[in-house]
Amino acid sequence: MSALYESDKLLAEYLLFHFGTPDEILPPDRAWPAAMRDALGFPQRTVARFSPGTVARGLDLGCAVGRSTFEMARTCEHVTGLDFSHAFIRAAEALRQGDTLTYDRLEEATLRTRLSARRPEGIDAARLRLVQGDAMHLPGEFGAFDRVHAANLLCRLPEPQRLLIRLPELVKPGGELVLATPCTWLTEFTPLENWPSAGTFEWLKASLEADFSLIRQTEEPFLIRETARKFQWSSSLVTVWRRTD
Ligand SMILES: C[S@@+](CC[C@H](N)C(=O)[O-])C[C@H]1O[C@@H](n2cnc3c(N)ncnc32)[C@H](O)[C@@H]1O
Repeated sequence: MSALYESDKLLAEYLLFHFGTPDEILPPDRAWPAAMRDALGFPQRTVARFSPGTVARGLDLGCAVGRSTFEMARTCEHVTGLDFSHAFIRAAEALRQGDTLTYDRLEEATLRTRLSARRPEGIDAARLRLVQGDAMHLPGEFGAFDRVHAANLLCRLPEPQRLLIRLPELVKPGGELVLATPCTWLTEFTPLENWPSAGTFEWLKASLEADFSLIRQTEEPFLIRETARKFQWSSSLVTVWRRTD
């Protein structure tokens, strides 16, 4: 599995991506294209794709530094965030406990700006559990959830089919599943033989339609800032599914 997500560089980029204010990500001294502003707040937007209302149990797979898990805790009485990266889970857990995390936003070369991340307002830390783990090899006794969220995870897994096969067991009958993926399949993460052969959406439908009905399909842009002048602007295919009885 890639060690990329254990690095200080990615930790800082994800703390900014998940917890940076709009002005920290797009400083107001420059005129930014509207599409960049529209791509802010990705973790909040994918979580908002669940139906309104409060539920008992939520699961956020590939939660990184935890913003989407925190957002799920607003409407889930208990939510587990799981990520393979020890560094990301350590950061998410520190934020859950109320710590302020300082990190450096890279401007260019060796120029950096010190910023800090905190748990967002209005989140009950007691509702959250953050664990290091492998979404392809979840423990047998993990149980079933009312809501399962996995954003930008599938195309980072060596064997994404392992997760898809487990999903019917993870989502309670009538429960909801939000899958987001920018479909950026790379051999660095997933061997070619495990890529979808006929398009990611068709592959998801074929894998899930026996146990889930598709409620919605949409696109959500997201923006990851690398330096003051280099950003990743991507569009994630978001599908929302309901587990059939
Ligand atoms: C592209 S990031 C997306 C993170 C976050 N969901 C978001 O949308 O910002 C992919 C995440 O998946 C995690 N990941 C990769 N392989 C994993 C695995 N086998 N099990 C759980 N998490 C994994 C990485 O550590 C990283 O945090």
